[in-house]
Amino acid sequence: MTTPPVCNYEGSDYQQSFWEQGGRAYEDQAEAIALKRMLPKSGKLMLELGAGAGRNTPRYAGFERIVVLDYSTTQLAQAQERLGASDKYIYVAADVYRLPFKDGLFDAATMIRVLHHMADAPKALAQIKAALQPGAVFILEFANKLNLKAILRYWFGRQAWSPFTLEPVEFVKLNFDFHPRAIRLWLGGLGFSIEKTLTVSHFRLGMLKRLLPAKFLAALDGLFQPTGALFQFTPSVFVKAVLPGNAKADIPLQVIGLFKCPDCGHGSLLQKEDHLACASCGAQWSARNGIHDFRERMK
Ligand SMILES: C[S@@+](CC[C@H](N)C(=O)[O-])C[C@H]1O[C@@H](n2cnc3c(N)ncnc32)[C@H](O)[C@@H]1O
Repeated sequence: MTTPPVCNYEGSDYQQSFWEQGGRAYEDQAEAIALKRMLPKSGKLMLELGAGAGRNTPRYAGFERIVVLDYSTTQLAQAQERLGASDKYIYVAADVYRLPFKDGLFDAATMIRVLHHMADAPKALAQIKAALQPGAVFILEFANKLNLKAILRYWFGRQAWSPFTLEPVEFVKLNFDFHPRAIRLWLGGLGFSIEKTLTVSHFRLGMLKRLLPAKFLAALDGLFQPTGALFQFTPSVFVKAVLPGNAKADIPLQVIGLFKCPDCGHGSLLQKEDHLACASCGAQWSARNGIHDFRERMK
């Protein structure tokens, strides 16, 4: 199966350089407010897609178990360091375009700051939908092409692409901004209904961030976030999408029961010493250092 290219974070110091030393305390805290407003208070099994170094993972504490998934094993190693060894976390290296989970498994999923690396967003969203139970909640953050700065730049002739058209814009290789209506159409087409939309990072301006404490600016952002129900002109938008139906209660107790072979789709994997083996096609998937790796088969 051919899949779109992946934006590779292997060996990246993203968490350190972008968040911890990058002056983004305001954005981080504003996202925490949005997440709190959207997350169910509790749940059984959460899928965090593109979790990176696990910056947001502690915010999902109400869930019994959390699958921390990323394409990059170095990001996952940082997440392991942050979150610690615990049965609560299941670390999975996999491609969002080729998820290794049985259908209808999770009662919630989040994907924060990841869709903007997706050259084929509808394909990624369809994979996520398949992994969710009826009634599941999906919290998606996307980078908004219809942001105020892009609109002004376009009107003043400083930007060639139109922020008003539905197609994604690739402003840097494998970095895409999306039109909010396109996101609504894709999610709607997959059967999701959008329960809540919050606009986030209203005040992403260097001057404001230098002048005002991050906590204050984030609290102010929180006051404006609900305006997202009416219009979305911020660089970042969060949507809470819900699937119809009622959640089923049973979730496999054993970690191995969650997986299917991403090559042949067969749902019976056998536990071996340092890998899982597909009972149908024989593919072997590494399971070392606490990470189940479904990117490339060992054999
Ligand atoms: C900008 S970081 C965001 C990390 C985290 N969600 C956060 O907000 O701190 C994007 C993450 O998405 C992951 N990623 C990108 N493309 C992916 C793909 N196709 N499958 C799985 N993970 C992917 C990267 O490895 C990286 O860790």
